[in-house]
Amino acid sequence: MAEQETAKEMTIIPVASGKGGVGKSVITANLSVSLAEKGCRVVAVDLDLGGSNLHTCLGLDNNNPGIGDYLRAHYGNLDELLVDTYHPNLKFLAGDARSPLMANLHTAQKNKLMNHLRKLDADYVLLDLGSGSAYNTLDFFAMSYNGLMVCTVEYTSLMNLLTFLKNLALRRIEMQLPRNTFLRKSFQECLNQPLTSGVITLRKVLHTLAEIDKETAENINRDWLNFRPRIVFNQGRKPDDLVVIDQISETLERNLSLRCDYFGHLFFDPKASESLRRREPLKSFAPDSYIVADIDRLANRVIRLWSQPLRNSARLLKNNTVQVYEERYL
Ligand SMILES: Nc1ncnc2c1ncn2[C@@H]1O[C@H](COP(=O)(O)OP(=O)(O)OP(=O)(O)O)[C@@H](O)[C@H]1O
Ligand SMILES: [Mg+2]
Repeated sequence: MAEQETAKEMTIIPVASGKGGVGKSVITANLSVSLAEKGCRVVAVDLDLGGSNLHTCLGLDNNNPGIGDYLRAHYGNLDELLVDTYHPNLKFLAGDARSPLMANLHTAQKNKLMNHLRKLDADYVLLDLGSGSAYNTLDFFAMSYNGLMVCTVEYTSLMNLLTFLKNLALRRIEMQLPRNTFLRKSFQECLNQPLTSGVITLRKVLHTLAEIDKETAENINRDWLNFRPRIVFNQGRKPDDLVVIDQISETLERNLSLRCDYFGHLFFDPKASESLRRREPLKSFAPDSYIVADIDRLANRVIRLWSQPLRNSARLLKNNTVQVYEERYL
């Protein structure tokens, strides 16, 4: 098995957000292009079932069979659905834009799809997810402990980020509780507490479960401690916007016992929407734009840092954002 031991592992990068329209598809598409240009073998997957439009961000036509056709059992595996793009290192796997009403997967379908995604032959597989906290989206996001969360610094976007991560925590707990058990019922009762009993925190929920089954509660806690999502701020206008980081960190720690890393920041750039209107990826439409530089920096971080634990990411991102702002706009 020497070959397997030396083979580089494939990295799955799910891209999610609580709020819609914050830039997931633009980032997934253009980060995929940038990684491919830097020599990585990449598959960009449109997993926004019911809202697939990653092809547009990649400048491709909507005429390729994709996950919708796979789910309708027209295809036995995903490899035959991979589409060539204008870069030889980048393949595209279309969503369900040609195959309506496939957004509500059964568990068996979803598990099969996730297994096939894990077997794709690539260095990086980027998953463009739908917005919001549908079970499918949460489960796709949990394919990595370090998925990317995109948000703007708008209040609603930040609130929805917290909601998404809360739902992720609760979904992970639910999945580990056998159906029709007292434990599961107690969990559901925790969720149905009246508003007067305060915010549902992960600590409170695990405490309730531990009183019934200590070992299960400990296992759930151990699983949750592995999660360390990586946040990318998009459409920023000035470095001061990032003061929100401290508040996000504090709330996540207090309510969800969760730590996140702060992985990137992209400034607002009108070239993003112009490239969509022109149906061209940013690299070919506006190669010298600021947003391409920001995405290239994100790609460098992925290549350099993805597989290691990050330290001081909040401070580093704030400093880096000030530096870019001063070089660019002052
Ligand atoms: N850095 C940026 N600067 C300016 N505009 C941007 C930036 N990033 C994305 N946009 C614009 O935001 C809009 C939404 O982007 P996109 O479709 O990628 O969001 P999304 O999160 O995938 O949305 P949905 O939840 O609907 O899938 C687009 O019009 C895009 O041009
Ligand atoms: Mg999208």
